[in-house]
Amino acid sequence: MNKISLKLGLLFFSFILIVEIILFSFLYTGLVDSRIDEELAELKTRGESHRHVLEKSFDETTIEHVALMETESETDVVIMTHDGKVLAKSNELTSPMKMLMEQERGPVPFEGMVVENRWETESYISTVSPIMIDNQLIGHVYMFKSTNSIQTMVYEIKQHFMVVGSLTIVLTVITVFFLSKVITLPLIRMKKATERLSKGDFTVSVRHHSDDELGELAQSIQTLANDLNHLKKERNEFLASISHELRTPLTYVKGYADIAMREGLSEEERNKYLQIIYEEAEHISGLVKNLFELAKIDQHTFVIEKEKVDLSEFTNKIVKKVRPAFKKKGIELKHSCPTELHVMIDRFRFEQVIINLLDNSLKYSNRDSRVALEIEHNQTNNKTVLSVIDEGIGIAKEEIPFIFNRLYRVEKSRSRESGGSGLGLSIVKEIVEAHGGHINICSELGKGTKVTIELNGYLKT
Ligand SMILES: Nc1ncnc2c1ncn2[C@@H]1O[C@H](COP(=O)(O)OP(=O)(O)OP(=O)(O)O)[C@@H](O)[C@H]1O
Ligand SMILES: [Mg+2]
Repeated sequence: MNKISLKLGLLFFSFILIVEIILFSFLYTGLVDSRIDEELAELKTRGESHRHVLEKSFDETTIEHVALMETESETDVVIMTHDGKVLAKSNELTSPMKMLMEQERGPVPFEGMVVENRWETESYISTVSPIMIDNQLIGHVYMFKSTNSIQTMVYEIKQHFMVVGSLTIVLTVITVFFLSKVITLPLIRMKKATERLSKGDFTVSVRHHSDDELGELAQSIQTLANDLNHLKKERNEFLASISHELRTPLTYVKGYADIAMREGLSEEERNKYLQIIYEEAEHISGLVKNLFELAKIDQHTFVIEKEKVDLSEFTNKIVKKVRPAFKKKGIELKHSCPTELHVMIDRFRFEQVIINLLDNSLKYSNRDSRVALEIEHNQTNNKTVLSVIDEGIGIAKEEIPFIFNRLYRVEKSRSRESGGSGLGLSIVKEIVEAHGGHINICSELGKGTKVTIELNGYLKT
């Protein structure tokens, strides 16, 4: 038997046993007491009826007749005068009978009284009734009943109780056994499931039929198992994608290094290949940097140190930094921001966010188009909205839901021109959400893209 069901079973059993013992002993003593009371009442009634007969005619024949009547019954009668002389008896007097009759006692009440009721220790139970004629006490009628018969009766009751009691205990054990099994079975199943989980087997299925707490627990374990399973799959996929991502630029590096090492190359050619190798190495280091960034986010070692930042000054600096790259590609970069707009952000992280978005707009826009970084503050709900708008290639509707996934790129080929690793937007999203903000993307294929970041409750001061 499993430990928990054994524990539960023993607990149930002890409780039920205690309750049963208490109830049975109440029942037993009540039953025995009422049987004894009945016997005494019967004995007294018998004495009363003799006394009535004797009160009607107190003569020798009647007295003998009364005594004779009792000779064949289980009870005995002794008729005495008021001064203690035995007039008649239904059987030979025994010494316990004599002792009972000689006992000192006050006047016997009219309705008679019990002389002895200790059936367990004495040989007889006994009652006495007075014989009164014209308000004069003539004598007494003593009734006796041997306690042997009573003891036999009580013994039989006890025997019955023993049988019923043992049966009840057997039934209790069986009931408790099954009940504790039924109660603990789902628990044991869940325990086994969690053991398998801890060993790394996430394919467990915990069945749950009830909608009580146990059912909820089973549901939670199932959800946990599913989540872990999903996470494991995701991690494997992620690792596969990373190795794939690294392999492509490394192939370029190897290939171009091979060519660059050949003899008889002109200085100019060699420099061209070295330049490509340099760019690819740069790409790899960017990828590794981003991966490290994401790993930090996942481990929660990533802290946001918010400070009060003047947005107009902050974005001006960034725009200045990226403008040459835009100019080089012939893209006009517009910037607008209200002055004196202060927000609480992590300067370093938020610069990463804006640079990433501007970099995307630059990468995915064609020559002679426009990109705008617009910042607005909504006075009514006190929200600051940052938008990066471009007139680039846009993103197909069906791609948008996946755009924030790690390593996700619309352009699946890892060509050297379309360069990105697909990590930028996932990092941006994590940072924005760590600031309590929201990021949203709308795009139309061939028309352009608009990314908006909404920051909560920042006061304009
Ligand atoms: N402004 C945009 N216009 C068109 N497509 C975009 C834009 N921004 C992102 N995308 C698409 O979304 C994909 C994911 O963007 P993300 O910034 O995460 O990665 P990436 O730019 O490819 O690489 P990196 O890690 O260098 O940023 C991009 O590969 C691109 O296909
Ligand atoms: Mg990017």
